[in-house]
Formats: sequence, C-alpha cells, structure tokens
Amino acid sequence: MKKKMRAARYDQFGGPKEVKTGEIEIPELKEGEVLVKIKAAGVNPVDAVITKGYYKDMMPHSFPVIPGWDFAGVIEERGHAARRFEVGEEVYAYARRPEVKWGTFAEYIIIPDSYLATRPKNVSMKEAAAIPLAGLTAYQALYIAARLSEGQKLLILGSSGGVGSFGIQLAKAKGAEVIGVASSKNHEYMRSLGADHTIDYKDKNIGEAVKEIYPEGVDLIFDCTSGDSLQQSLKGLKKSGKLVSILNQGEDLDPNIDFEFVFVEPHAKQLESFREMVEEGKITVKVNQTYSLEEAAEALKQIETLHTTGKIVVVP
Ligand SMILES: NC(=O)c1ccc[n+]([C@@H]2O[C@H](COP(=O)([O-])OP(=O)(O)OC[C@H]3O[C@@H](n4cnc5c(N)ncnc54)[C@H](OP(=O)(O)O)[C@@H]3O)[C@@H](O)[C@H]2O)c1
Repeated sequence: MKKKMRAARYDQFGGPKEVKTGEIEIPELKEGEVLVKIKAAGVNPVDAVITKGYYKDMMPHSFPVIPGWDFAGVIEERGHAARRFEVGEEVYAYARRPEVKWGTFAEYIIIPDSYLATRPKNVSMKEAAAIPLAGLTAYQALYIAARLSEGQKLLILGSSGGVGSFGIQLAKAKGAEVIGVASSKNHEYMRSLGADHTIDYKDKNIGEAVKEIYPEGVDLIFDCTSGDSLQQSLKGLKKSGKLVSILNQGEDLDPNIDFEFVFVEPHAKQLESFREMVEEGKITVKVNQTYSLEEAAEALKQIETLHTTGKIVVVP
C-alpha cells in the first residue's frame, strides 16, 4: 500500500481560499530521486500567484497541486543512483519542477537529488527553508546578471521583503553601497541588514531622493517592485548604469537602458555558495511568522499583500 502524507492542496485555480489541508498519497521513489521529510517550507509571492492560475499557460500543472517551492528537511529514503547525500542528511532546495504539482507545503517531497544542497548548519530549519527561492533570486540578479562589484552604488526597490533582504546583504558582502527602498516602518530593519541609506516610497519621489544621496546617481537598480516606484527611480540611474528587474520584462522601458530581466532558476551549486555565506555570518535570515499546514491559506494571503517583512514559513 502506498504511504500517505498530510499536505496543503488545491483542486482548482481561484486563489489562496482554494487551498485546503488533507491526506495525499506519496508518489513512488524513482531513479535519481530522494524522499525528504520536510521540516519547514518558505512562502513566496509566486505561490499565491500560482493558486490564481496566472501562470497556467506558461507552466504545465496537474491537480491536485501542492503549493510551495522552498523547503528544508531530512533525507529519509534514496532511489536508484541517488547518492549525492546520505539518509539522515539535512538539505534545502528551491523545488520548482517543470510541472506545477508536487510542492513543499507537505510532510514529504520526492525530488531528484540534483536540486538539493546541504543546509546551513548555524541557522534553524525554518530559517534555512526561508532561503532558497528568495536567496537565489537575489544571488542570480546581483552576482550573475549585474556582476556587482566592490564600491558600486545600488538602489534596491522593495528591500525589506524576502528578495530585498537577501539583496542588501549580498550587496554588502561584495562591498557595494546600498540604498534600500521600503516604507518607514522597515527602515531600521533594512539598516540592521547593512543598508547605508533608506528611502520611503510613500514619502518622496524615489529618483529625486537618490540624487540627494548620490548626485551622480547609482550604478545599479535592483527592481523587486516595478510599477511607479521603478519609473520614479530611473531618474537616479547613471547613464552608464544597469537595471535588473525580477518583475518588469522590459515593458514601458527606454530601450537605451542596459536592462536584464531575471527569472530565478533552481541551482544547487549556488545554494552551496549561499550556505557558506550564511555559515560565515555574512547573511542572516529573519523569519517573522510561522504557519501550520492547516494555516497554509492564511500564509498565502499574507504573502500576496507584498508587504511582508523578511520571510514567513509553513511548518508541517
Ligand atoms: N522573477 C523572479 O524570479 C522572482 C523571484 C522572486 C520574487 N519575484 C517577485 O518579486 C516581488 C518581490 O518578492 P519578495 O519575495 O521580495 O516579496 P515581499 O517579501 O512581499 O516583499 C515586498 C517588498 O516590496 C516593498 N514594497 C511594496 N510596495 C512597494 C512600492 N510601491 N514601492 C517600493 N517598495 C514596495 C515592501 O516594503 P513595505 O512592506 O515596507 O511596503 C517589501 O519590502 C514579488 O512580486 C515576487 O512575485 C520574482
């Protein structure tokens, strides 16, 4: 008889309210795959977006869908040739698969071991689970797309949330100067992560505020919000500067801007580099709220506000 697990799941699109918790059969372990007992699952805005069916034409899916793409957990069984890790090892991963189906708001996941990295040992499982998607996004945007270097000045739009919090710390680890943008209540938090300057998007025109800090402008804008905040900020970008966005795909942008859109890819090797930075104390993770599996819909409603400070997690 197949083993069952508890999981959050939905059987049709319609937003977080469709997400219910129940029992579901654990699929068979195949070649190259491992069975991981999930200790915690990070929550990201995309999880809520997917429940609404907004990506249904871009990403194949099959119901029931278990939401969630981030986890930290313990290897419990290994399939044929899945030998990168031992049973009992603690791992973490960004588990976006080609098909939207088996997510991480569940007691277990079956996943190819190529997705996994050793989890940072100096943080809790909850903190480790909050890293992969948001951490890799900031890493791929700042270190790969922008090739950020020491002494550069950058502006991060939305820097108190999941991605921006890692963005500030990755930028400081490279020796860059950071202006963080979020509402005033989050300014102390952003400074605690290393932001050199802060701007409240509700208070001032962002581009003008940047020019007050750096009259010559910034070398890089890392856009995690898009919309009016992005349009305002462009005034503060040097002519030779670069814009990297994780939301805007180039629409309404001056074609002369050096621009790159980043869509985060699973990348176990980069997660290993990330683990080293966490263990060296260069990166910390702030988990502000924990939800049970039964509260998964509440977690998705919170994350879709786009006003979460730091990260939130689901613990099965
Ligand atoms: N392309 C990709 O691969 C990728 C990957 C990850 C995320 N994303 C997307 O990127 C966005 C950010 O993700 P996240 O996980 O960091 O979200 P999050 O945790 O909800 O953070 C949102 C951040 O934006 C700030 N904010 C909200 N409205 C703003 C505005 N009008 N101007 C400036 N800042 C504003 C918030 O600050 P306050 O709370 O102070 O308002 C907060 O710092 C989401 O839309 C997500 O779907 C894309």
